[in-house]
Amino acid sequence: MIFRGTDTTALLTEWAMAELILHPKVQSKLRAEIDSVVGSTGSINDADVAQMPYLQAVVKETLRARLSNDDIQLSNGMVVPPGTTAMVNMWAITHDDSIWSNPEKFNPGRFMVSEGGVDVDARDGDLKLAPFGAGRRVCPGKNLGLVTVSLWIARLLQHFEWGPVDSSPIDLSEVLKLSLEMKKPLAAAATARNCV
Ligand code: HEM
Repeated sequence: MIFRGTDTTALLTEWAMAELILHPKVQSKLRAEIDSVVGSTGSINDADVAQMPYLQAVVKETLRARLSNDDIQLSNGMVVPPGTTAMVNMWAITHDDSIWSNPEKFNPGRFMVSEGGVDVDARDGDLKLAPFGAGRRVCPGKNLGLVTVSLWIARLLQHFEWGPVDSSPIDLSEVLKLSLEMKKPLAAAATARNCV
């Protein structure tokens, strides 16, 4: 339980921060939302996260764009022998352009109803976006994972502006281990906001 809950939340935060550095407008928009809910110095708690739809959209978009837990391809006519463990290829679903427009683009607005998007609940087993699995073996830590990552991102953005490190550009290449990790771990430059 502890193992399943640590690398997943840390990796999701790392991917989200990488996308926010690569998309400074998204980073600014999210910081503006955080400021509007708690101010630039107020302490953020999990109840505040519920008041931040754009933060939730950023986390969902990171889950859509990145995390998958399997690379098995199922196709019509394929024989799956008895005893085989079959897993849904969530990566293929979240990159299917008949389901998602411009699937390669990082666009949290796709989850904002106010921006013409659709509010998909990443926890309820809608297989369009099921980063926590579905059915009997669904992730029991999904609520804790989402609120933890959202809180971390909100606090990181509330206190710092985030940018790239010149000597170590952000590389979104993936490597599949138990979870999908950044092949090259994120290096980021933080500037305290009261010094900007
Ligand atoms: C945001 C972070 C997380 C993601 C993306 C994630 C994703 C997943 C996925 C895809 C599965 C497999 C579901 C399936 O087989 O259908 C899973 C299972 C599991 N997760 Fe998570 N998880 C996260 C956070 C956590 C946390 C915080 C905990 C515990 C505190 C946790 C505990 C578990 C456990 C124990 C299982 C195995 C459930 C079973 O086999 O019955 N996860 N998770």
